[in-house]
Amino acid sequence: MKIAIASDHGGFELKKEIIKLLESKKIDYTDFGTFSAESVDYPDVAIPCAEAVARGQFDKGIIICGTGIGVCICANKVKGIRAALCHDTFSARMSRMHNDANVLTMGGRVIGPGLAADIVEEWLDAGFEGGRHQRRIEKIGEYENKAQ
Ligand code: RB5
Repeated sequence: MKIAIASDHGGFELKKEIIKLLESKKIDYTDFGTFSAESVDYPDVAIPCAEAVARGQFDKGIIICGTGIGVCICANKVKGIRAALCHDTFSARMSRMHNDANVLTMGGRVIGPGLAADIVEEWLDAGFEGGRHQRRIEKIGEYENKAQ
């Protein structure tokens, strides 16, 4: 599995913790920045990361900012991306099972590293259920194709 990961300055510390988790699980990843705690604009890191997932270069993406909201909005502007902002393990699991979310976003100023690590583990482990949920995500894709 290949993961694309990114954060702005607000998510920088939490991203370092998630990278430690990925490394401990021997999961391959590419860090799309930012690479310091200096202030950056979250679209500049979130969009390239989400685009790389949409191009199929990565299986999934994890993007972190202060709240998780800005990067979630950005990622969901990229065609083919279904980004889910999750601050609990139930939502993280459901975002995979029902929504086939291919990007997880979190807020580094909202949750601590322990819960964030549990969320990432649940999210990476859960699979898409398909069936009626496949039809629903196809409707999102149909709208996306019409709208752009
Ligand atoms: C940066 O201060 C902050 O606005 C950003 O990390 C994020 O929370 C935006 O949604």
